[in-house]
Amino acid sequence: MSQPRDNWSSNVGLVLAATGSAIGLGNLWKFPFITWENEGGAFVLVYLICILAVGLPIMMAELLIGRRSQKSAVGALKEAAGPWWGIVGGWGVLAGFILLSYYTVIAGWSLYYFAQSIGWTFGGYPAGMAAGDLFNEQVGNAGLQLALSLSFSIATIAVVYFGVSKGIERIARIFLPILFGILLLLLVSALGMSGSGEAMRFIFRANFAELEMSGVLEALGHSFFTLSLGMGAMITYGSYISRKQSIVKASGAIVALDTLIALVATVIMFSVIFSVAGMSDQVSGSPVGMLFISLPELFYTAVPFGVVLGPLFYVLVALAALTSTISLLEVVSSYVIDEHRLSRPKATVLCGGAIFVFTIFAALSFTGTPFLATLEIFAGKVGWFSTVDHFVSNWMLPTGGFAITLAAGWFMTRNATERELVDGTEPRWFHYGAWRFFIRWVAPIAVGAIIVAVMLGRDFS
Ligand code: TRP
Repeated sequence: MSQPRDNWSSNVGLVLAATGSAIGLGNLWKFPFITWENEGGAFVLVYLICILAVGLPIMMAELLIGRRSQKSAVGALKEAAGPWWGIVGGWGVLAGFILLSYYTVIAGWSLYYFAQSIGWTFGGYPAGMAAGDLFNEQVGNAGLQLALSLSFSIATIAVVYFGVSKGIERIARIFLPILFGILLLLLVSALGMSGSGEAMRFIFRANFAELEMSGVLEALGHSFFTLSLGMGAMITYGSYISRKQSIVKASGAIVALDTLIALVATVIMFSVIFSVAGMSDQVSGSPVGMLFISLPELFYTAVPFGVVLGPLFYVLVALAALTSTISLLEVVSSYVIDEHRLSRPKATVLCGGAIFVFTIFAALSFTGTPFLATLEIFAGKVGWFSTVDHFVSNWMLPTGGFAITLAAGWFMTRNATERELVDGTEPRWFHYGAWRFFIRWVAPIAVGAIIVAVMLGRDFS
């Protein structure tokens, strides 16, 4: 390496960038939806336990593997656990490549709804328009879909192009505070609505009779996805941490913020839904559409200050998605930069462009395109989009995560991991022996259970 490696400028920079990666469509779209499906309460509690017992230890493991080698996923795993482990890194890079290719399509929808909601704010929400029809119309329009996802891809490439401190960290520093601010406004407005009490009870009152084993595994699977674990994203971000920064503190902050945001988003959405008569039945019919079908209309008919909060909400979704897509592109580009010695600008444009080819496939999955709309490899997952989503969420992230727990817990020496975590920067609550127990036993057994469940036919996408 001739050039010195670009680093986060401070611990805050790292925490914001990694939190930006973690907070994304998973928090705003997936988490509220699975909380709804699993009847809240007990599911949320189990989710919190999974985050603490599995997510937090693996977060520390990924960051420490990255910091130790100062290399991206492939190089870092090779150095941590041996040459064969480059394959696990490569598996992660591939997961990042595929995930980014279709994540961009949903991210593009937020741009569309932002533009639409600006129109409604000034022109009024069209009376009698069925929100579901609007949604189907936009996903079915090939030209529109390509334009939206191309815009989002270009934004992603533009940020990563400028590197770690001048691109990724700078954007996170600007956007995350805006994102927190918008959420706070939405929360205040939502808590004033009549349905907020019922929403709080739904989310926070545990009723274990409602919880099924499948819900437990879903909570576990989601804790992976939401924290961006299992594919080397945090290894890559960890590789830009300097020796003076604490991995343990950073992990604690990232995990806490991601969880807080997921809960706040859920409180907001459910408060709105419970405030409108008949809405909860409608949502139960099609929970997937909460973000893009149920909510748009509600902002203009039920939410106090909705004409302002509506557009802001879609800005929020777009910002949350962008700070995730840049981290996905960084996983792929940094691999090419480190292992194939390409310059950052070249690597970023090349990887971004290659990924966009697959984004086209994902975007055209909804427009009735032959093959892309009809492909069915996994039973019930029809179309390119659903197929790749199923493959990444169910197969790639859990297997990658499982391998990472083995690398950190069993293949790296005690000495090597202890030196990274216990270096005088760690907070008082941290206990190395406890971490080691979780990463060697609790995390691999729990993640192993997901993999077995997937093999037996469970679905987490
Ligand atoms: N955490 C992101 C979300 O909640 C999704 C995600 C999964 C991700 N793995 C990632 C983002 C890796 C960036 C990098 O939406």
